[in-house]
Amino acid sequence: MLKLTLIVWLLFSLAWRTTPTSCRQTRPPQTIRQLLATQLQSYMDTTARPCENFYQYACGNWQLQQEQPSNPREREKDREREQEQLLPSDTLSVLDHNLNRQLEMALRRSNESTMEEEPPIYDKLRLYYRSCKRLKPYNLKKYLQLLSPGNGTHWPLLSRSWRREKFHWLTTIGRLRLHGLNGVLLKEQVLPRWDDSSVYSIYLDKPSLVETLPMGEGAMIELLLDIGQTKRVANALARQVDDFERRLHRLQELEDDEGAKEMQLGYLEEYLPELKWLLLMREIRVDTEPDVRSTLIIQNIPYMRALHELVERQPPDTICNYIMLKWLAFLKQQGPAEISRGECVASMRRAMPLASSLMIGQRLYDPEAEQDVGSLFQQLKRRFALILEENRLQLAPPIVHVLQEKLRAMRLQLGFVQLNDSGYVEEYYQKMELNGHNFYANQLKLLRLRVEKNHELLSATGTDLGNVSYLTESWLASSSSPLYVKPRNLVLMPYGLLQLPVWHRNTSSLQRHAVLGFALAHELIHGYDASGIDYDGMGNIMGPSEEIAGNQRFIQGLRCMQQQLATGSRSLNEKLADYEALRLVYETFFGLKAKPREPRDPLLSQFSQRQLFFISFGQFFCGKMPALSLQAQSHLEHAIDELRVMQTLANFEEFSREFGCEKRTKMQAKQRCRVW
Ligand SMILES: *[C@@H]1O[C@H](CO)[C@@H](O)[C@H](O)[C@H]1NC(C)=O
Ligand SMILES: *[C@@H]1O[C@H](CO)[C@@H](O)[C@H](O)[C@H]1NC(C)=O
Ligand SMILES: *[C@@H]1O[C@H](CO)[C@@H](O)[C@H](O)[C@H]1NC(C)=O
Ligand SMILES: *[C@@H]1O[C@H](CO)[C@@H](O)[C@H](O)[C@H]1NC(C)=O
Ligand SMILES: *[C@@H]1O[C@H](CO)[C@@H](O)[C@H](O)[C@H]1NC(C)=O
Ligand SMILES: [Zn+2]
Repeated sequence: MLKLTLIVWLLFSLAWRTTPTSCRQTRPPQTIRQLLATQLQSYMDTTARPCENFYQYACGNWQLQQEQPSNPREREKDREREQEQLLPSDTLSVLDHNLNRQLEMALRRSNESTMEEEPPIYDKLRLYYRSCKRLKPYNLKKYLQLLSPGNGTHWPLLSRSWRREKFHWLTTIGRLRLHGLNGVLLKEQVLPRWDDSSVYSIYLDKPSLVETLPMGEGAMIELLLDIGQTKRVANALARQVDDFERRLHRLQELEDDEGAKEMQLGYLEEYLPELKWLLLMREIRVDTEPDVRSTLIIQNIPYMRALHELVERQPPDTICNYIMLKWLAFLKQQGPAEISRGECVASMRRAMPLASSLMIGQRLYDPEAEQDVGSLFQQLKRRFALILEENRLQLAPPIVHVLQEKLRAMRLQLGFVQLNDSGYVEEYYQKMELNGHNFYANQLKLLRLRVEKNHELLSATGTDLGNVSYLTESWLASSSSPLYVKPRNLVLMPYGLLQLPVWHRNTSSLQRHAVLGFALAHELIHGYDASGIDYDGMGNIMGPSEEIAGNQRFIQGLRCMQQQLATGSRSLNEKLADYEALRLVYETFFGLKAKPREPRDPLLSQFSQRQLFFISFGQFFCGKMPALSLQAQSHLEHAIDELRVMQTLANFEEFSREFGCEKRTKMQAKQRCRVW
């Protein structure tokens, strides 16, 4: 008997150790803290050794937890959902997934049944959403029928009325640019001016390296089959375009030995007469005849010349088909990945970022959150001010002063639009007439609206949403990732993050620092990364970058990080932001001196506070271990998160001290890097 009770007792204590809340089942309604404590442990693989593979230790069972909802009814519902929705593969997509579900419920409610008063813009969001839901199937060809490559001609593949003599590639590029396409052959953007960020200019440039990365024959064939081409046609065409795409990509090697130039449009016509700039600008600014005296800033002129030569040597059909394929690929990204509720909400967020942000804000905004995020940001700024004051780089005092000023001026904004900006948002979409039965036309209209609104900024005065509305064309405007906007010296924290595990009224201060604090610190540090130092506190490219970039310690710090960039990993600036942010937020929370005895969290008493901090930090990056059959892309993304956590922690001496890692364990970097 004694034996038996002993065993029962042992079993009980074991269970208690792994799931401390299980013994409290007599009190079923769990508090948020209990829930989070249970969750934190359920994600961990405690058979892994934290000093060897911390990611496995913190996240080893994450995926298991995502796949097994504990309640059978939930499981049933999830099975239904699985059929219509892609399963989220990391924390950020879990957040987005939940958010989309909430929005979807709000959208499905009819206008009358809602008790609360809704802003009129909700009607337009509903129309878009409904038109998306009615799609079956999603047919890319419809877009091509709605928009031809130019007056008097059609797409070569679609009709006999293809007239090559009527095709001018710059006209087509301009026409599609007006509908949101960019970075194909050329890039045209409205951006804050480098020397005065309070006004905007047109920037002409070559596409980025990523934008000219060949999409490959496979992807092209898929698109061509989507629009109803036969396999034989698709194969032949893809080969042709692929060849062009590779040559185009090679133009990236050209140096910009002429540098950026600002000139009037009329003068550009003379300076680079090979390219018909007026044709382009006429298409982009349909309502007004382009003013030849208006100025624009052009970069990579040698690329432009080479582009002209390359295009001239190709048959017009190839160029037109190339542009068409890029256009289709772009549209496919904007549209729903599949016709499901969640995907239609996701597509709505991409198509109407301002209105969606307002709607998300109205669901998730909480004055307490604003206060919490704000005070966390202030604490981080205060700590970073001290780090700057220490001046490890031994910069001259006036330079340090400039950096301090920039920090003082750095602002935080919660939400892409403020809730009191609803008037601006209504006005923005005012002339938009959407149709609940015509998704394709809605999509094209909305894409065009963004480009038109951005070009209106060129002559606008002061009605720019705290200055970030120029970002509406970027995917950042509809994502839940925080960002640092360099020309605005602004950290932008989307409303979408105000959910668990990032924020809740009841989360502990430690949890907040480890997740939200890290995210804010990471963005703050972007103001001081290798390109952040180009910008001053006003957001002008007049920062003390030469003095800093010439500093030996700065160079050494960067070189150290450069060596840790694994192939396929993110950029040096991301590494810098991660490394410095972890230290910043850790020191902000724990202070500099170790306290002799820090009280433990009673719900997780097996860990010290500092260990918990690192586990919470790591778990934000938990993700799905990709099956081998999945595409390389997701494999890479995942590898990046895993590497990100491992390298960031291995670089931080406090981590190995706290877990008692011995020398030569994996989680101890051979060389630790630090810049600031
Ligand atoms: C949040 O904290 C308050 C006060 O500590 C508590 O009364 C409440 O039950 C908690 N709510 C949740 C959902 O945890
Ligand atoms: C929704 O309600 C508002 C006012 O309550 C009304 O103006 C609008 O037409 C309604 N929209 C729909 C789609 O019923
Ligand atoms: C193309 O046709 C439309 C409508 O017929 C006309 O408004 C526009 O000016 C034409 N564009 C060019 C560049 O000729
Ligand atoms: C809108 O709200 C923000 C903060 O939420 C505030 O800074 C700003 O002054 C408000 N604007 C107006 C016009 O009330
Ligand atoms: C707009 O940006 C400028 C500098 O980039 C800044 O001084 C100003 O405060 C910003 N305005 C608003 C409303 O955020
Ligand atoms: Zn970053």
